[in-house]
Amino acid sequence: ETVSVAGLHLLPGAIDMHVHFREPGYTHKEDWGTGTSAAAMGGVTTVFEMPNTNPPTRSATEMKAKQVAAEKACVDFGLYGLLAEDNIDELQGLIEAGANAFKCFMGNTFGNLPSPSTGAMLEGFEILAKTGHRISLHAETASIMALRQQKLQAAGCNYPLHHVAARPDIVAVEAVARAAHLAEWTGARIHVLHISSAAELIPLADAKRRGVDITGETCPCYLLLNTSDYDRLGSVIRVNPPVREAQDSAGLWDALLSGVVDMIATDHAPHLPEEKRKDIIWEADCGFPGVETQMPLMLTQVAEGRMSLEHYVKISAVSPAKSFGLWPVKGRIGVGAHADIAVVDLNRKETIKAERLHSRGKITPFEDVETTGAPVHTLVRGAFVQRDRSLVTGMAGHGRQVTDIQQMPEPAPKNADRFLSSVLAGKSL
Ligand code: DOR
Ligand code: ZN
Ligand code: ZN
Repeated sequence: ETVSVAGLHLLPGAIDMHVHFREPGYTHKEDWGTGTSAAAMGGVTTVFEMPNTNPPTRSATEMKAKQVAAEKACVDFGLYGLLAEDNIDELQGLIEAGANAFKCFMGNTFGNLPSPSTGAMLEGFEILAKTGHRISLHAETASIMALRQQKLQAAGCNYPLHHVAARPDIVAVEAVARAAHLAEWTGARIHVLHISSAAELIPLADAKRRGVDITGETCPCYLLLNTSDYDRLGSVIRVNPPVREAQDSAGLWDALLSGVVDMIATDHAPHLPEEKRKDIIWEADCGFPGVETQMPLMLTQVAEGRMSLEHYVKISAVSPAKSFGLWPVKGRIGVGAHADIAVVDLNRKETIKAERLHSRGKITPFEDVETTGAPVHTLVRGAFVQRDRSLVTGMAGHGRQVTDIQQMPEPAPKNADRFLSSVLAGKSL
């Protein structure tokens, strides 16, 4: 059976460096079958999955358990190992078990993983600098957040103070700057997850200028929603970090177009509708599904002339592939590349409906949004996983972990060594 691609565009399948598929531990919200089905429907051919499952992916044992859970995947995937206070001795084991990158929760969020101290981060960064595994940061400073939230909650503040608690943006600015200094000192490679504020772009751009190997992502919600949507969406909009002001979105758009922000990711964070719809915003779980709606939402921005299709390919496929060692096998269409392809109809009109999402988290802040452009077929290594806007059955298990194709870069020079050699040589700095 053949499909016609007349009038359609072939894009490299999107690579989403930030999804939470919840298995093991929270399979009422998602599992590897539903999560990767949502990805296939969204034109996403590779995902990197986060370690805040239950148990968290903190050692080789949990990594192996996650690989078993991921045997149902229909798209390719990478797995994050955790970098926390108490598992520095497990990092090597996680790598040997196949971790593709690491996640460090500098702020507290779903899963309640305690944030590592700066000392533990430094040790972890030193170990991972040697192997080249990129460390992705939930860059919010836990201690600042905790104090602010405590005060607001004690004062009886409700919605929309989830947002206020994270103001001023020092919460993220401090975390990005601190992580960048540790990366610069150790030679570790880092990635700033879910950039939500214009202020964070300052330490990010600064670190790039200094030559730190640092990349950054933002997500559709930070580009397309702002505080004027709080009243309409209520607790459904709750996400960590919060959706901010219109001027933050404007700054993020500039940064995404200029390359200061390298890529788009979704922070696909499914929760059930009843876990999201709360009278008190603090009681709502943070996040919402996103892996299925990213491509239609962003292609709509292309249709509206906000970004070129070429630039969309760069931020959705090329940059993530290059940053996480998957290039040139993934993130492109061409000789030697996997046939990971989103066949898109740039004119296709759809309306986002949570009940139609393939995620178990059937709730989205983009309910009823009209989109222009959608992936009508998705191929992973040459096989259809989505066809004509329907999931292809029997593809569970087609997805493979990217460990065998991932290439780690050469160890980066450490500032610590430069400093020491200057001192030993009697040179002034
Ligand atoms: O909103 C969020 N949800 N932010 C995070 O950092 C974690 C995520 C989740 O796992 O639910
Ligand atoms: Zn996060
Ligand atoms: Zn996340």
